[in-house]
Amino acid sequence: MSKAAKLIYDGKEIELPLLTGTENEDAIDISKIRSETGLITLDKGYKNTGATTSKITYLDGEKGILRHRGYSIEELASKSSFTEVCYLLIYGELPTKDQLDNFEHEIRFHTLVHEDFKIILDGYPSKAHPMGVLSSLITSLTAFYPESLDPSRSRKLVDLSIVRILGKFPTFAAWSYKKRTGHPIIYPDNSLDYCSNFLKMMFALPSMEYEPNPVVTDALNKLLILHADHEQNCSTSTVRIVGSAQSSIYPSISAGINALWGPLHGGANQAVIEMLDTIMNDNNDVDKYIKKAKDKSDPFRLMGFGHRVYKNFDPRAKIIKKAADNVLDKLGVNDPVLELAKKLEKIALEDEYFIQKKLYPNVDFYSGIIYRALGFPPEMFTVMFAFGRLPGWISQWVEMRQNKEPLGRPRQIYLGETQRDYVDIKNR
Ligand code: SDX
Repeated sequence: MSKAAKLIYDGKEIELPLLTGTENEDAIDISKIRSETGLITLDKGYKNTGATTSKITYLDGEKGILRHRGYSIEELASKSSFTEVCYLLIYGELPTKDQLDNFEHEIRFHTLVHEDFKIILDGYPSKAHPMGVLSSLITSLTAFYPESLDPSRSRKLVDLSIVRILGKFPTFAAWSYKKRTGHPIIYPDNSLDYCSNFLKMMFALPSMEYEPNPVVTDALNKLLILHADHEQNCSTSTVRIVGSAQSSIYPSISAGINALWGPLHGGANQAVIEMLDTIMNDNNDVDKYIKKAKDKSDPFRLMGFGHRVYKNFDPRAKIIKKAADNVLDKLGVNDPVLELAKKLEKIALEDEYFIQKKLYPNVDFYSGIIYRALGFPPEMFTVMFAFGRLPGWISQWVEMRQNKEPLGRPRQIYLGETQRDYVDIKNR
């Protein structure tokens, strides 16, 4: 007997079927509720509402579990490579050696971008935030590859669009950084692996030999894996809803980049470093900022703390915190902000306000400290988040299209004026 929930309303009683997932999560399927009762449900921020079913990522917020296609984030972060995790998320299985070699070859083949992209880049002021530059460059791919505009035409074409964006995203990200520094852009060097090629485009200068540092490349691989997907977060839900209108993959992902930019979401990693620097410059007065974070009348929030899903700990934050110690030590970087972050975390986790509201460090709390040690400036931190999340957005967009999901169009409850007659301007 399939499980159901009963809704009793206005003297009537209807049964709503329950859907149970492979991890025994239950959801009430309300797809028939309006036709059978005239009711809709209301859930601002979709805190209790499932938007879809998916086979890509599983999260358990209470137990701090994060798995991609069944593999734990702990195993993937310690044993896999970012390109392998891209393949796993998008195609559903860990690749064989030949499959991975071919996938990486395809991506390498598409790292170069049309020279006209330099004209678009030149149109930006040098202080343009790289997230804004990136989202427009990604949308502009539709101008150079108009065949990508019709995603339903063939899987082959979708696969070509996938390797094109995986190949060109690092180039765009590095070039948007060079735009800020005023240094000449560096072209892709396909003799290098995916992460080293990106690091060279980011940090090499024409007059210098660039030797990839394995410590930096390994740290980058791990950071990108830790950001790769996170089920139906704000930016992924944006990618899905734009894609549900049958918009193609590039504008859908560009929309995701813009959603991620917000300081409550991916923009938090830049906001964390700015917050820590502010506290550092304010005599390390941690107690003052903890007090501000708890003060309802103060808009200040402890950036990098709290999460919509994780209510005990964010497994990614644990891994990144350990990696921060390791990477800074290996690079011989002494960033006092790391000690300040640990002190802030300790005080917050012993404070009743944070304990009662289940606020813990999330993925953004320590990541900026590593990015800074690797040489990235704060305005590039969210670009790095978007780089990591790219395969997640791609896989979720592909899944939504393959499942032929309907156009996303939520309902509302209207609280405005009821019907009234027009009044001529001379009588107002
Ligand atoms: C990411 O969804 C994902 O999976 C996202 C992400 C991913 O991988 O895609 O994990 C990446 O976006 C991580 C989150 C990064 N954002 C931040 O670090 C910004 C700071 N944190 C928040 O603003 C907040 O915690 C959110 C936005 C992350 C989650 O907030 P919710 O779930 O909407 O909860 P809420 O804002 O209603 O907060 C609940 C209570 C409130 O107090 P009350 O009104 O109940 O009295 O907790 C308080 C909030 O005021 N609170 C905080 C706080 N976060 C929540 N108080 C102080 N500092 C904070 N950081």
